[in-house]
Amino acid sequence: MDDLSQRHALACHVAREAGMLAMEYFCRRDELTVDAKGVQDWVSEADREVESLIRSRLAETFPRDGILGEEEGWQPGESAGYWVIDPIDGTTNFLRGLPDWGVVLAYVEQDQVQVGVTYAPIHELLYSAVRGQGAELNDQPLKRKEEAVAPDSALIYLGFGARNDLPAYKARLDYLYSCNMDQRRLGSAALALARTADGRVDGFFESRINLWDVAAGLLIVEEAGGWHNYIDRPLPRGEKMGVLACDASLETTLMPLFEIRG
Ligand code: IPD
Ligand code: CA
Repeated sequence: MDDLSQRHALACHVAREAGMLAMEYFCRRDELTVDAKGVQDWVSEADREVESLIRSRLAETFPRDGILGEEEGWQPGESAGYWVIDPIDGTTNFLRGLPDWGVVLAYVEQDQVQVGVTYAPIHELLYSAVRGQGAELNDQPLKRKEEAVAPDSALIYLGFGARNDLPAYKARLDYLYSCNMDQRRLGSAALALARTADGRVDGFFESRINLWDVAAGLLIVEEAGGWHNYIDRPLPRGEKMGVLACDASLETTLMPLFEIRG
């Protein structure tokens, strides 16, 4: 097995193990200690413990890789690549007993995601991708349909956090309505991207988001034949990013979302 295949296999295994631990916390979520990191931005012992499990499992097999995680930050490594992990993406959903949250691991080399895994334990769906080798959903090949999506039949997930700009969000809604597109908010960017890859929805947009929310999902969309705005562009590591991922046929219609500032 080559290095990327090994990291892919490990990431899938660790995502499942971490998902099982997260499920234990989910089943007794009312007992968890919850802290606010900011306005409407929560962290619980579940997020911390799941991240700690993922870090130790990755370090057992690839001790020289760096790790960037949502809860513990950046730990530099000595190898050519690093992991980007979100122990629970969709923490608000998780804490409220809503089903849309997932465990997310990505491996980055040369500023590009090489391996991406998103596991949604409640849905029992494991999405993964290796650069150049395609995407999978529960070990089956994952490809978006070939047919173009007409804007007036498209369904898009929008992301919006307390740090986002409300007038800009409203202006983006106006624009989508003017295109006769339908839209939803899910509360997990990672799952929104996974569903863009599997065709349940046709796209995802969020104007200011962290790398760990989207790194895995961007590769999964790309390898499933979709488009995103970081194809052939280096990923930022320390700053918020604006992300658009969609069926390739919707790129031109959706790009004006970036012209709305904020
Ligand atoms: C959040 C979710 C949400 C997105 C936010 C993220 P968290 O991550 O992905 O959908 O809109 O920008 O911060 O806090 O649930 O891990
Ligand atoms: Ca997250």
